[in-house]
Amino acid sequence: MSLSSILIVGATSAIAEQTALALVGRCKRFVLAARNHERLLGVAGRLRARGATVYTFAYDAERMHDVDLLAQARQVLGGELPDAVLIAHAVLPRHEEVVHDPIMAHRTLEINTVSVLTLCTAVCRHFEERGSGVLAVISSVAADRGRVNNFLYAASKAALDVYLDGVRLRWKLRSSQLRVLTIKPGYVRTPMTAHLERMLFPASPERVGAAIARLIAGRRDGRRYIPWWWRPIMAIARLLPDRVMLSIKQ
Ligand SMILES: NC(=O)c1ccc[n+]([C@@H]2O[C@H](COP(=O)([O-])OP(=O)(O)OC[C@H]3O[C@@H](n4cnc5c(N)ncnc54)[C@H](OP(=O)(O)O)[C@@H]3O)[C@@H](O)[C@H]2O)c1
Repeated sequence: MSLSSILIVGATSAIAEQTALALVGRCKRFVLAARNHERLLGVAGRLRARGATVYTFAYDAERMHDVDLLAQARQVLGGELPDAVLIAHAVLPRHEEVVHDPIMAHRTLEINTVSVLTLCTAVCRHFEERGSGVLAVISSVAADRGRVNNFLYAASKAALDVYLDGVRLRWKLRSSQLRVLTIKPGYVRTPMTAHLERMLFPASPERVGAAIARLIAGRRDGRRYIPWWWRPIMAIARLLPDRVMLSIKQ
């Protein structure tokens, strides 16, 4: 399936950039929203160098809850909503720094959960009015089971999974042209994970971005694990008793 346009929020993320690069050729126009202006211009430049048409917007997940990015995108796209929206931004704070710090915990939930679900609500309204659209949100395998470390991050993503399950069911009742993808990567080598000492089976952002691009341009929906074998691994992890989970530190 080819897309006329996509809105990517958190477009400076390593995974989002690789997704956008993998979509060139399958998608003509890119609307990129991100916080860091310099990095955003860098991503836009690399897409334009491959022949894409790119528009950019500032977006800070902590401050811009009332901004309607879909309406802004429609304006630059000549009155058309984008065919797809990918939401990629998030933070992974150092667990020991956040575990007793309510302000940092609040900030994490604001960025990873509140801003994302607020954006999804706006996407829902616009896509349901039009009767078509692909909503793709990057969650994580971490959301499937609380562990000794990083459980605030895991909880911030678990809320996305449950919300998106609901939207998916709602849209299945409405139109086959409405599609929800909950993207669940395992560990990926990006700036977000640079501080982690150990990672199980890490993937490259290029591999994960290419897989996300295929999903967005494809026909499937649902919770999608990247690589796919994280699905059975996390199905087992959900069943493990706490005494086994205690030995899994990462
Ligand atoms: N890396 C992994 O192992 C892994 C695994 C599973 C899921 N994920 C998910 O994949 C997605 C992309 O992460 P990544 O690995 O590509 O990490 P990344 O390169 O560090 O990207 C994180 C992005 O979030 C943005 N961001 C942070 N706070 C923001 C705010 N207040 N407003 C707007 N943007 C903000 C950053 O923007 P700036 O450029 O302004 O800093 C950056 O673009 C995230 O949702 C992450 O949770 C990652």
